[in-house]
Amino acid sequence: MKAINLKTEYLDSPMGIDIRSPRFFWNCTEGKSQTAYQIKLYNRNGVLWDTGKIPSSSMVAQYKGGLLESRDSLIWQVCLWDENDMQGPWSETVVFEMGLLKPEDFKAKWITGNYSPNKKKKYPVDCFCKHFTSRELVRARLYITACGLYEMKINGERVGDFIMAPGFTDYNKRIYYQTYDVTPLLKIGENVITAELADGWYRGSIGAMGIRSVYGKQTKLLAQLEMEYTDGTKEHIITDDSWQWSDDGPIRFADMKDGEIVDMSKKPSYSGQAKVTTHSITPTASNNVPVKEQKRFVATLSRTPAGKQLLDFGQNIAGYVEINIDARAGQTLYLQFAEHLDSKGELDMASIQCRAGKPNATPLQEIKIVCEDGSNHYKTKFAVFGFRYAIVESDISFKADHFTSVSVYSDMRQTGYFDCSNPLINQFVENTLWSMKGNFLDVPTDCPTRERAPWTGDVQIFCKTGTYFMDTAAFFRKWLYDLRDRQSSDGKVPCHAPDVRNNEFFAGIDFIKRMDGCSGWADTAVLVPWQLYRMYNDEAFLIDSYSSMKAHIQFQISRTNKTGLFGKPFPKPDKKYISNVGQGFGEWLEPKDVYKASVIQDFCAPHPEEATAYLSYVCSIMTQIAGLTNHPEDIALYEEYRTGCKEAYLRQFTPINTDRQSKLVRPLALGILDETEEKSRVFERLVSTIEKRNFHIGTGFLSTPLILPLLTKMGRTDIAYRMMENEEEPGWLYEVKQGATTVWENWDGTASQNHYSPGSVCEWLFETVCGVRISGDRHFTIAPQPGGSLTQASFSYDSIYGKVACSWKKTGREIEYEVVIPANTTADVLLPEGREEHSLDSGIYKFNS
Ligand code: BGC
Repeated sequence: MKAINLKTEYLDSPMGIDIRSPRFFWNCTEGKSQTAYQIKLYNRNGVLWDTGKIPSSSMVAQYKGGLLESRDSLIWQVCLWDENDMQGPWSETVVFEMGLLKPEDFKAKWITGNYSPNKKKKYPVDCFCKHFTSRELVRARLYITACGLYEMKINGERVGDFIMAPGFTDYNKRIYYQTYDVTPLLKIGENVITAELADGWYRGSIGAMGIRSVYGKQTKLLAQLEMEYTDGTKEHIITDDSWQWSDDGPIRFADMKDGEIVDMSKKPSYSGQAKVTTHSITPTASNNVPVKEQKRFVATLSRTPAGKQLLDFGQNIAGYVEINIDARAGQTLYLQFAEHLDSKGELDMASIQCRAGKPNATPLQEIKIVCEDGSNHYKTKFAVFGFRYAIVESDISFKADHFTSVSVYSDMRQTGYFDCSNPLINQFVENTLWSMKGNFLDVPTDCPTRERAPWTGDVQIFCKTGTYFMDTAAFFRKWLYDLRDRQSSDGKVPCHAPDVRNNEFFAGIDFIKRMDGCSGWADTAVLVPWQLYRMYNDEAFLIDSYSSMKAHIQFQISRTNKTGLFGKPFPKPDKKYISNVGQGFGEWLEPKDVYKASVIQDFCAPHPEEATAYLSYVCSIMTQIAGLTNHPEDIALYEEYRTGCKEAYLRQFTPINTDRQSKLVRPLALGILDETEEKSRVFERLVSTIEKRNFHIGTGFLSTPLILPLLTKMGRTDIAYRMMENEEEPGWLYEVKQGATTVWENWDGTASQNHYSPGSVCEWLFETVCGVRISGDRHFTIAPQPGGSLTQASFSYDSIYGKVACSWKKTGREIEYEVVIPANTTADVLLPEGREEHSLDSGIYKFNS
């Protein structure tokens, strides 16, 4: 038996982590079960830690050797014993390196451009430069971060491939540095290091309103180059006031949402000196995947009815454009990007902008380039747009192949692959994956255009689907820090984290700013760590978040037993358990024919039905979490509110007499109606409303991921198939038929075209149609449910335990199934015809029915 897919703290060969007792993960191959492992960890002097043979079936082990120090470069490998106690070969070796672990490791000083910024003004990109000499190297490392975005070069070569570095955090609470191996970029003798520093999330426009300078008005850079020479000496080049600075480089303006203004003829003069400044936070390592350039798309060129030159890149993405074009000095290019064409066939900015048509519309999503003579190569550096289309205005005669679009997202490995006989469903799954790619740029966002806001509700809705699609462990671990950083001292969890001042978006209506803490959104504090724990079997997600989750529950409890503004009073004793304070979004975005949102009701008033159901539900999860994380003292409180809220809900909100699907789905799916007579009555009503609606979806944001799994749980997978396969509006496949390449925010496609949350239905395709679920420690349940018009379906998932897969194919009256169970795991296979195979060990199994 051999170990494969080695990872250190969920990362492939990470450089510069600061987890002092990292965990080592692997999968098994060539054998049934692992009975023991041995790990060896080496530093440059030899073996640093040797576990010896450890009897264990676990595919993860935590480092327990001597203290790891800053800059330690380490290598590990693992060897396994199989079910016959046969020792297998040693795995490949993988490397990782510790970052700078102590504040005193940072010798560099924060530097900034030599000007006093005015909040109202916009500035060109700052350019910094430092000349230095180097000798024969053993190794060289560059540690960098910025308040803003940086791009650094050594001797003209870009350092690393992290785009939009250092990523997005609340820079005044947490700031991440990156570590790069720059040994190959340095030469013996003279060297030059240059940096560009742009506004980014720190000073640029963010959130729906495009508010600027949210984190500060002065961008700053911190860099420390450490060179270790063959003669045993070391030398550091640090940012300080010896660095030269100017702001006369080619990028005259850069904003992440608005775009760039570039003069290709300009070269920075570096004629001034950088100014030394300070920052209140010592940088730490993100222990996360970098953001990288990913897939590229070529364009086709046509004219809009109004005569504009239109590029169509074929796929809606978040990213930017690369241009290679010959021009004469002074010729110009103007591009504006959008995801959609309006009904007249023109670029539709209205669906992606706030204040569209007004002078302060945001985001602008445009680039303006003045060319130099000869060949011009331009690639956006400090902006990202949500787009499929661009209009081009230019006095250069250009062709489509002068332009390429480049998608940009956090470098997570794809882990989930689905296919079935319905091409529309396949396209919807593909669209969901693209919406994930379009919204996982260091933080998860609602859409890459209008708001680009890390909305918490969207994350809890999509987390599980996203985690099937791609390995999100490191990404979400980082984001949960962002979430906890924004939680207030009273436990209130925000609607978005990090802050993008999106509350201002609702300022007119949410006039007393009670949006944060909203049920279904703030509950992310519990639901995301819980889902990650279940997908990765990693209690660290729960342990790290426990105090935040507990504080969240306490805050939610503080919203019970009161009547908030615009709230309808509830009688005693139920009032005690009804959450009735604070603004809530409720279900949000139901199809317009089902429910028309009203400003007071849906933006300002409390939502006691939704909030009370969610409080009971998250308390039921907290009861389990408290047990798992050894907090028995808290269980009584969670139990009290789980049952108290449930009983109050039953008395105050049932019987349920409505055709709104969300009102029927929620109490059923969140366990409120369990063990009650109301359960079957409400389910029957749900079934009849779905039939009356002709199998059209009728839910909004919160219940869309719940409805099909609920139908399956209640034994009506047949109805779930009919809803999934419905091709009319409103329904998931309608938008595919309209040519969508990403997922729409609302069912009629009138808002953002790139919102992943309704794509959370993919979870049902993976877990029900193909029946793949992780159901315990190294254990799966495989319970496919063929149905609808499908004649075949397959799903393969590179789980934390290795590749698990299930596919089925109808051949005449028979169905053939194939199940793949990874080494060192077991699975229960439950086929719809009633055949059950329990505790199958690894292998490929075929079944016929
Ligand atoms: C965003 C959503 C978000 C919602 C909150 C919208 O404007 O785009 O994705 O969750 O507001 O209700």
